[in-house]
Order: sequence, then structure tokens, then C-alpha cells
Amino acid sequence: MGPVLWEWLSLLVRWLHVVTGIAWIGSSFYFIALDLGLRRREGMPEGVKGEAWQVHGGGFYHMQKYAVAPRFMPDELTWFKWEAYSTFLTGLALLVIVYYVGAELFLLDPAKADISAEWAVTASLLSLAAGWLVYDLLCRSPLGRSDTLLLLVLFVFLALAFFGYTEIFSGRAAFLHAGALIATIMSANVFFTIIPNQRVAVADLKAGRQPDPELGRQAGQRSLHNNYLTLPVLFFMVSNHYPLAFATEWSWLIAILILPVGALIRHFFNVMHASGRMLWWPWAAAAALTLVIVILSRYPGTGPAEAAETSFASDPQRALSASRYFDEAQAIVMGHCSMCHAQKPLYEGLAGPPKGVRLDTAEGVLRNWRQIDMQAVRSRAMPPPAVAVISPEERQLLAAWLDSRKAW
Ligand code: HEC
Repeated sequence: MGPVLWEWLSLLVRWLHVVTGIAWIGSSFYFIALDLGLRRREGMPEGVKGEAWQVHGGGFYHMQKYAVAPRFMPDELTWFKWEAYSTFLTGLALLVIVYYVGAELFLLDPAKADISAEWAVTASLLSLAAGWLVYDLLCRSPLGRSDTLLLLVLFVFLALAFFGYTEIFSGRAAFLHAGALIATIMSANVFFTIIPNQRVAVADLKAGRQPDPELGRQAGQRSLHNNYLTLPVLFFMVSNHYPLAFATEWSWLIAILILPVGALIRHFFNVMHASGRMLWWPWAAAAALTLVIVILSRYPGTGPAEAAETSFASDPQRALSASRYFDEAQAIVMGHCSMCHAQKPLYEGLAGPPKGVRLDTAEGVLRNWRQIDMQAVRSRAMPPPAVAVISPEERQLLAAWLDSRKAW
């Protein structure tokens, strides 16, 4: 398939993935808030645990929740499952399109693990499946009896998995896999536990049996995990274009710290929906952790560009073109970047300059100095490590060149 069609396929699948993801997360946020906001009142029908009144779209809604199930099954029952399944399936398709087919550009990093694209893809698929199996076993083990203990063990497990990913994949792929692992667990929770347990309960009711509350407890525990994992997943999915997060020295630790940051923010909303109380400490803790993340992304400094960050030149592009390092910097960029970032890339399979970033002329290099700084000096996101190697000295030189914009 030509690069143009491939690019469009990638965009269309991504669009679909975002749409299905919004449908899933949207309905999940809605039901969590609804559930936590249910109130009891006198004279509710038998079996009803709580109710809520809501106004939306020109009408009023009166919602009632039956604790285990109503005494009679309604004729029509809406299930919420395709949002999750389609998000998983489109996400998997995107993983294949971007990271498996484009393994050399996005998945591999020979400096971390010198493996072939086939092995990397195998490791990716196996890790997602194994991750779910380990998670499921942990939940079913005696540990699963204690929500807190289970969460602690799961945190350690995910931390190890994230570390493993950063050891074998490129930084960007490692973050994507951290997100994909959590998202696989969340979708599998819906597919293997939440929906099947609910089906058993419905069948029991239809047969006039009392459903087993244990099934409900298990499903509830998985929903709780899904609830707290939502925000970290979204971070991993959108951090793709922010190399300070995924392509610096401490990226593995940054990935791990995102888990509590996302969970804390979620906790704030859960408490607010349940009791109306607005806690301050989840925000304070999340902000403190985020600050740690920001500091980690800058540590250790990447050479002269880190020095004095105060006096910026009023016209950095002019300063940079006059710099005594310009010729060398341009040669480095031409040598390591322009095979792809050109109007007609030499690198096979690229229809045009990736993301429209052209680095094949002096003008392009000057215009994109901020991007070069982010992608190749402050982080090691570019060039794709499996395709081109750029030495630390060359990065230093780029840094020295960028630093000269302040001297003007
Ligand atoms: C082997 C091809 C290749 C080489 C060599 C390469 N890049 Fe890239 N670059 C890409 C691809 C592919 C993307 C698009 C990534 C994506 O889809 O998000 C990209 C994206 C970028 C972006 C945009 C990032 C964003 O998220 O918007 C910048 C900036 C960039 N590269 C800079 C560089 C610099 C600087 C160099 C050299 C030091 C370089 N690239 C070398 C392939 C390459």
C-alpha cells in the first residue's frame, strides 16, 4: 500500500479510536458519578438502593438503582460493553499500524535491546496478554479480599512492567505500551468479569434464583480499578508527542509516578460525587508529584543549553543563524534528520516530511529550532534510534548552538 493510503488509514483508525474511547470513558464517568450520587429517600420501591434526579437536553430524568437486581426482568435492557470492546479493538489496530508496521521508526531502540522487529512485536503482544493474566490471578488470589493490599501489589506489578517496557522499547513505544497494558486490563475486565458476572445474575433472576452477591463484589472491584486507571491511560496515550515525558533519562520513573497522579485526581471527583466534599489534598499531592515529574524530565541537564535560561534574544532565529556553531549544527541536522524531514524523504515509506517538519534547508533548521531542542537535545526522541545514531557530542554541539540564541 502506498504511503499516502497508509497515512490516511492511520488517521482514520486513530479518529475511530478516539471516538470509541470517548464513548467508553464518557459512559463510565457518567455511571460512576451517577452511582456515587444516588440518594435514599422514604417510600422508594422495594429493592431500590437509591435514586437521582437529573436534568439534561430539555427533559428530566429519574434514575433508580436496584441493589442486586429488580424482582422482575424488564423486557428491554441496555448493556454497556461495545464502547469498551471497540476501544480495545481500534487501539490494537492502531498499535499494529503505527508500532508494528513502523517498528523501525517507532518501536525499536537498539541501544536498549538489540532485537528484531519480529521479536519486538512478539514481546509486545505477549506482554499485553501476560499482563492481563497476572492481574487477573492477583485479583482472584486471597489478596483480592483486601482492596487496599491488592491495589498496592498491583501498583508494584505495573511499576515493574513499565520499567521492563522502557528497557526494551523506544521511549515513545514504552509509554504507549504502559497505556496499552492498562487499557487491555480494563477492557478484559469488562469482557471476562464484569459482563459475564452480570449475565449470570440476569439468568439467575429469570430462573427465579437469588443471584450470588460474590459475583457482584468481583465485578465491583474490577470497576473500581477501571475507574482509577482511566486518567493514567489517557496520559500515556496523549504523551506521545511530548518527548520530555518519554525520552529522557528517568522516563521509567515518570511513567510510574503518573499512576498515583491520575488516581489522586480521580479520587477527588469520586469523593465530590459521593458526598459533595471538595478535598484539597488530592490536588496538592498530585501537584507535588507532577512537580517531581517535571524536575525528573530535566535531570540530568543536557549540556550548555541548560545554563542560564534568563535572557532570551529578542530574535532567536537571527541569533542562531549568526552563531559560530551554526554550520556545524546544520551539518548535524542535515546528516541525521533530513533523510526523513525533507520535501521528498529518502527514507522509504514516508510520503512527505513527518509531521510537516522540514529540516533539509538552513531556513527549515532555523524555523524549527524549538522542535530540534525538544526532540534531539533535551530528550532523545529523535532521530528514531533504530534508524540513525547521533552521538552525545553531536547533541552537545546542537545544545551549544541553541545556547547562542541568548547571546544576541
Ligand atoms: C528515519 C526517519 C527520521 C529521522 C532520521 C528523523 N525523524 Fe523526526 N520524525 C520522524 C517521524 C516518522 C516523525 C513523526 C512522528 C509521529 O508520527 O508522531 C517525526 C517527527 C519529528 C518531529 C515532530 C514531533 C511531533 O510530535 O510533532 C520533530 C520536531 C522531529 N521529528 C525532529 C527530528 C530531528 C531534529 C531529527 C534529527 C536529529 C529527526 N527528527 C530525525 C522520522 C524521522
